[in-house]
Amino acid sequence: MLSWDDEVSTPSPALQPVRPATPMPSAPTRLATADQSAMPPRQPQAVPAAASSVVATSTTRVKAVDKRVINGQTDVNQLVPFKYKWAWEKYLAGCANHWMPQEINMQRDIELWKNPNGLTEDERRIIKRNLGFFVTADSLAANNITLGTYRHITAPECRQFLLRQAFEEAIHTHAYQYIVESLGLDESEIFNAYHEVSSIRDKDEFLVPFIDQIMDPNFRTGTPENDRKLLESLIVFACLMEGLFFYVGFVQILALGRQNKMTGAAEQYMYILRDESMHCNFGIDLINQIKLENPHLWTPEFRERIKELFIKAVDLEYRYAEDTMPRGVLGLNAPMFKEYLRFVANRRAVQIGLEALFPQATNPFPWMSEVIDLKKQRNFFETRVIEYQTGGALNWE
Ligand SMILES: [Fe+2]
Ligand SMILES: [Fe+2]
Repeated sequence: MLSWDDEVSTPSPALQPVRPATPMPSAPTRLATADQSAMPPRQPQAVPAAASSVVATSTTRVKAVDKRVINGQTDVNQLVPFKYKWAWEKYLAGCANHWMPQEINMQRDIELWKNPNGLTEDERRIIKRNLGFFVTADSLAANNITLGTYRHITAPECRQFLLRQAFEEAIHTHAYQYIVESLGLDESEIFNAYHEVSSIRDKDEFLVPFIDQIMDPNFRTGTPENDRKLLESLIVFACLMEGLFFYVGFVQILALGRQNKMTGAAEQYMYILRDESMHCNFGIDLINQIKLENPHLWTPEFRERIKELFIKAVDLEYRYAEDTMPRGVLGLNAPMFKEYLRFVANRRAVQIGLEALFPQATNPFPWMSEVIDLKKQRNFFETRVIEYQTGGALNWE
């Protein structure tokens, strides 16, 4: 495997990696603040070797057995021979479930939103807070994949899934924007909520350091310390962002749909929830594969650090639940979510090999598991439901 700093014996121009002519700019995904915009630009830093994107010139053919999820030395441009079939199958399942936001009819939502008696103030608050979080959350997820995670993953099957996942995050941002536009909401209010609403800002500020550390152009895997940083970032994103921070919002909008309100938005959220379940499950498989290949990373100290992050994330998401539901609404109230978030956190912890953090937590929303399995929900809402499944077996949990 060659790095930027190695001599390359003139590969085909189409295969040559583009070497940045100038140092990379500062990380573009961190939450911009008014103060930051006034700050002088960061000093340029040298671009380190990016070992995982160059074309190997070795004449030795790739063997599946030599592939590794991180710090691999095999050519990342060769998808086959497959080693990580689970990643390829999830990629195929994602393609089979393709959907686009504008295929969903929003007319009933628009009429309900514009009717002064259509929704209560508490229901409107839920919708606006929800969109306020999600319109930027999926951009954070997309930037984390494309500018952070992707270059550190050396298994091409896993990269293939990440490319599909990045596009799905773009579709999700599109869906939230489409709802905002359809309802004629104040775009500035919604898109700035992650600066202006503390319960949303706190969640994003929890996430951003984990994006920044793997996006740093000087960050490279290959040492136990840095490999743990990458693993920590993957756990935060799969288990705590996609696997936990999305769930108060999903339950709320789907609860509206179950009461025949905002059925177009609810249908969009159903498709997003299905995608996110796949992202979360892929992330967990990726984490477990890295653990399998690098057991020295999974130390008691590291596990303690991860448990603390889980507990912090449950607390942040619970505060978000309280902020979005100052009173009971739609048969939901904030304390129900304390139990639910503990139940979900237990599940994520066990999935990556930690013990349950909140023994005895139960699921107050068993209907959510059924919603995740869209095959059972074909006629749930009255809006048009399209069968996107064109192949590939889905197995959510
Ligand atoms: Fe998403
Ligand atoms: Fe996602």
